[in-house]
Order: sequence, then structure tokens, then C-alpha cells
Amino acid sequence: MSFDHLPMFIRDLRSLPRFLLTLLVILVGYLIIDFWISPAAIGQSKTDGHYQHNAANRDGIGKIYMGREISHVMGHQGAAWLERSNRAREEKTDLLIRNLPVEPDDVVADIGAGTGYFSFPVAQRVPQGTVLAVDIQAEMLEIIEARKVELGVGNIETVRGSIEDPGLPEASVDLIFIVDAYHEFSHPYEMGTAMARALITGGKLVLIEYRAEDPGVPIKRLHKMSEKQAKKEMAELGLRWVETGNFLPQQHFLVFDKP
Ligand SMILES: C[S@@+](CC[C@H](N)C(=O)[O-])C[C@H]1O[C@@H](n2cnc3c(N)ncnc32)[C@H](O)[C@@H]1O
Repeated sequence: MSFDHLPMFIRDLRSLPRFLLTLLVILVGYLIIDFWISPAAIGQSKTDGHYQHNAANRDGIGKIYMGREISHVMGHQGAAWLERSNRAREEKTDLLIRNLPVEPDDVVADIGAGTGYFSFPVAQRVPQGTVLAVDIQAEMLEIIEARKVELGVGNIETVRGSIEDPGLPEASVDLIFIVDAYHEFSHPYEMGTAMARALITGGKLVLIEYRAEDPGVPIKRLHKMSEKQAKKEMAELGLRWVETGNFLPQQHFLVFDKP
């Protein structure tokens, strides 16, 4: 039998083990890249549970939830920006606080509380109740604790949540409000499920996000959210849209409840 039509290295059977070894090395290399290198780094898209992983856009983490890329978390180094002196005028924060649907004895959770910019004025609206100021960054909670002492505020409790769970007991909260934070939750489905569980039946969740529909709002794209997207994500948690307030200059004021 003639082996003339076969490539030289196969004809020479002595090189067969080296050929097989090379194939094995290529195969193992491929498997390592596929399983261990991030999909973003090699431009692939992968799905894991509720999320998809793509190459990250600027300001994003490359993790997609219901068609939206999640943004980076704002570090505690940005605390001064949250407390900037022109914020109240730019965002009409007094209107935001006044329109939160609370009773004086309510338990209210400010999730992604940051420096407590909203926790403190909301605490004044619930003099017989409590504000639970939840954040994942200890440095933010330390700022709140220091201010509690400075101002002598007794009805704010700080809660260190995890990226998946705000750590609130089941059916314990009348109102959850989230200002400019939900878009950076790295696990919105898990966080959302835990938040919905923490609400009492009939409890409300107010979501405040910069309006993605408005190109005039000078905020990075991944830090904004459309009303349609927010409604879709809350519906996924079993929360019902109640109303949208259009009184803020830059943000949606979206009210949902737990039926
Ligand atoms: C842009 S700041 C907004 C702070 C505050 N709500 C305000 O408007 O001044 C977002 C905050 O959300 C917090 N955060 C991000 N992911 C979180 C999570 N899964 N649970 C609780 N807080 C979270 C961040 O640590 C950060 O302090």
C-alpha cells in the first residue's frame, strides 16, 4: 500500500506521537481559555442564570440583566459628589422626599443609601418609625453613623448588606426607596427578590433613576434607566407598577407595590 498521498509527518510514523501531543496541547489550551478566561476578554457572550456576560462597555461590568448592562458601583471616594451643594437645586430633592408615600410610624428602607443624603430627611418624615440605611460599603455606613451622632438622630439604623441581599427580615418594611443605586446592583434579580420578600403585603417600592429617554440629562448612559426597563425588571419580581411621578427634573419617580 502506498502512503505517498499522505502528509509527510503522517507518513513518518515516528512523528505520530508528537503530532498527537501537539493536538492534545491545542485542545487543552482551548478548554482553559473557554472555561477560565473571562468571556469579555475573548469577546464571547455567556449566559449564567439570569445574566449574560459580554465585553464590558465603558462604565459597565459586562453583565447584562434583562437587556441592560449593569454599571460599576460608585465607590465611597465619590461621597462628596453625593453631598454636592447644588444637588438639591439640580434634582429638586425636596420634592423627591416630600412625595415618598410614608406614614409617621413606618419602617422605611433606603437601599444603596450612600452617605445618607436621603436617609436623614426621610427620618424626619417618620418620627415614630425607622429608616434602615442599607449599603454594601462600610465606609458609607461609617459616614452615616458619624452624622447620626453629630445630629443626634435616633431613628436611623445602618445595615451592611451583601451584593445579593440587603439583609432585611421578611415582611418587615413598609416602604423601600432606591435613589440612583439600583442600576449598579451587580445582582439585581437576587437583590430584587430579597427586597420584595422584605416588603409587607401592600408595601411600596419607589425607584428613582435618571431618565434614559432624555438625552438632556447629563449622566452616563449606564447610570440612567428607561421607565420601560424599570417596569420590566420590577414585574419580574412580582411587583406591580402603581404610578410614575413626572415632577423631578432629571429622574423617574416610579412607584410599585407588593400585591
Ligand atoms: C450613586 S450611590 C447613591 C447613594 C444615595 N442613594 C444617594 O442618592 O445619595 C449608590 C450606592 O449604592 C450602593 N450599592 C451598590 N450596590 C448595592 C447593593 N447591592 N446593595 C446595597 N447598596 C448597594 C453603593 O455602595 C453606593 O453607596
